[in-house]
Amino acid sequence: MSLEQILEGIPRGSADEALAREVNFETLPAHIAVIMDGNGRWAAQRHLPRVEGHRAGIESVRAVVETSARLGIRVLTLYAFSVENWKRPAAEVGMLMTLLKRYLRLELDTLNRNNIRFAVIGRTDELAPDVLDELAAGQEATAQNTGMLFNIALNYGGRAEIVDAARRAIEAGVAPAELDERRFSEFLYTAGQPDPDLLIRTSGEMRVSNFLLWQIAYAEIWVTDTLWPDFRRRHLLEAVLAYQKRDRRYGGIKPAAALSR
Ligand code: IPE
Ligand code: IPE
Ligand code: MG
Repeated sequence: MSLEQILEGIPRGSADEALAREVNFETLPAHIAVIMDGNGRWAAQRHLPRVEGHRAGIESVRAVVETSARLGIRVLTLYAFSVENWKRPAAEVGMLMTLLKRYLRLELDTLNRNNIRFAVIGRTDELAPDVLDELAAGQEATAQNTGMLFNIALNYGGRAEIVDAARRAIEAGVAPAELDERRFSEFLYTAGQPDPDLLIRTSGEMRVSNFLLWQIAYAEIWVTDTLWPDFRRRHLLEAVLAYQKRDRRYGGIKPAAALSR
């Protein structure tokens, strides 16, 4: 929302405060998307089972959701489970779903207090009924909120989304001549939302892993070696500050170069 909002939650004199004071609130990313990665490696470093990494990662989710809302980010999308993640052992998949349900139930009050609207993107029809119930309850309970939109990408795949959008466009009877990029984007899960300006990936992996393929066409990518369970407010502020130093050209040329043309 503002510097005051973000400073409210930060200890005076801390390094986070100094970072927050550097943020330009006029040029915030409208949409931040995060590939939360490295939970398994975090656990392995501690000789713990992988699920302990997922459990620890919930604290990072809390920190990022709260910090984003306080900054005044319009949309935050967290990649929680990909269509490819079903390849993992059933016990790990089950635990991820259990943690997600628990997170939603415990966080509803906080989401409401921060005026955050919750939504899910992905092939939700393939999820188990108990997970669907919890997701529906979360969306319903926060539907009236007018602040940040918090998307969880669950059973999400970028290619699957594009195929689903194409199917929906055909079903809606869109004529080929009518179909352009703007019209097509209305059939994506993120219809009506701004595209991510900033894409964050943790754990140092330099790939997009089938995340928001259409929407990240011109996103600024910021990769950190920090593993997801260690990611905190400081890292998000660092990402936003790095983003604000980028020179976004969208295929054009720098304004200075334009002057000397
Ligand atoms: C991210 O951490 C969580 C999900 C993909 C659900 P990982 O579980 O992928 O952790 P690493 O990449 O194996 O360390
Ligand atoms: C990407 O992480 C998916 C999520 C964060 C949900 P993965 O760990 O599944 O990606 P890869 O396998 O390293 O590409
Ligand atoms: Mg991973």
